Amino acid sequence: MAEKKVEPHLFVIFGATGDLAKRKLMPAIAMLAQTGKLGERYAILGVGRGDDIDDDGFRALVNDALREAGIPSGTARAWCERCLHYQKVSYQTPDDFAALGRRIEELERENDLPGNRVFYLSTPPAVFELTIDGLGQAGLNQGPGWTRLVIEKPFGHNLQSAIDLNACVHRHFTESQIYRIDHYLGKATVQNLFVFRFANMLFEAIWNRDRIASVDILVAEEIGVGSRAGFYEKTGAVKDILQNHAMQLFALIAMEPPSNGAAEAIRSEKIKLLYATQPLREEDIVLGQYTPGVINGREVKGYHEEPGIAPDSLTETFAAVRLRVNNWRWQGVPFIVRTGKRLRRRVTQIAVNFRTAPVWFFETMGQKLAHPNSLILRLQPNEGFELGIQVKDPNQPERLRTVPLIFDYADTFGRLPEAYETLLLDTLVGDQTLFVHGVETEAAWRIFEPFVESQPKVHGYAAGTWGPEAMARLMPRNRDEAAE
Ligand code: BG6
Repeated sequence: MAEKKVEPHLFVIFGATGDLAKRKLMPAIAMLAQTGKLGERYAILGVGRGDDIDDDGFRALVNDALREAGIPSGTARAWCERCLHYQKVSYQTPDDFAALGRRIEELERENDLPGNRVFYLSTPPAVFELTIDGLGQAGLNQGPGWTRLVIEKPFGHNLQSAIDLNACVHRHFTESQIYRIDHYLGKATVQNLFVFRFANMLFEAIWNRDRIASVDILVAEEIGVGSRAGFYEKTGAVKDILQNHAMQLFALIAMEPPSNGAAEAIRSEKIKLLYATQPLREEDIVLGQYTPGVINGREVKGYHEEPGIAPDSLTETFAAVRLRVNNWRWQGVPFIVRTGKRLRRRVTQIAVNFRTAPVWFFETMGQKLAHPNSLILRLQPNEGFELGIQVKDPNQPERLRTVPLIFDYADTFGRLPEAYETLLLDTLVGDQTLFVHGVETEAAWRIFEPFVESQPKVHGYAAGTWGPEAMARLMPRNRDEAAE
């Protein structure tokens, strides 16, 4: 694909002093600027509710954040001075949005910008609608150039709220202006799922219920809730990761081949798959919450002991589901999707478990010698993939061994770009392929709707384990149980 050029623009970030902006967005923007990818003319306007901060205060705060992200301070300081600005906006106050409009025009005049604007909502989800209405009522939904709206996750907290939020967005913006972000789609290894499946002749013919027994999708983190109690208590593992990041992995691994590589074709295949997936039944869900434990030899607190967490909180820090897809390709194949904080180690991977080969001759004394193949797509860390193959052990004639065929990204490609760098750049060039369509958000919520209605039990699990023991009941008993 030809590289598209970024046109001169103004980048407006709501929630600019928040955790996400400091840890991810500003470092990604700074990296893009350093590598010349933002083009020659642009300005960045941070927006927040605080009036205890001005342009200089914002620049100092971003400069510190960049230092923490490992960006050398000398160049960063000058860049912050030149490109960053700050405006206080209280989300309930129409006058503040009018003032924002005037500030935008002023910055565009000073920097000779043609009126192309990105509005990035990096605020708590509770103020998404207020902000979008504020922008719309101030006439900031349309500008002299293009206007794009980026919305962070979670998109709604159930089906109805996602429908309402989509309605609110569509009151002011058209779908082609909207970039619903899921940063997992910005990861090179996640994009590679598409290439792995559709650019290799090898896999498509075996990518179905005849050959595959089950698929395990795992998003495991070592970190706990950290300093994000306020956000996490309202969110929990289902809304934080399972319903969005993990469902995107599921969609890419299970969707049908699209008719072309354009955003619309890919997104409609994902939507079709989500609609073919059965809404969850209670027996297909296991929730958990971490209790004190040990990770990497270090004792860590339980969720209830973390700062800012209610001592009787029932927020889940682990969630696992068994998804069932009703279509020709996947009928009967369980997709086990899990995520959790404070698990044994950080790993995001997809394991595709093939069926056992129908052989009777690799057997000794009733014991099967041939093990089924597995393909592990490791998305992070140690990015790469591994295919387990059966070979004859030359030294032990009676034995077969599983040996891995391994590919490692770092060996071949070195540093992978940060997900946010990729997604910010795509927003700036107007490519929606790696963003979530409104219908997709609703289709994903439809699957989780019964979970929202019921209140499944939250099981304890010790930090440093792989989650609650109850998890075992979701797993198929053996490779060939799947098509039962
Ligand atoms: C975020 C969640 O979306 O993704 C965090 O809010 C989580 O809770 C993070 O830690 C994980 O992202 P990554 O890129 O580190 O896997």
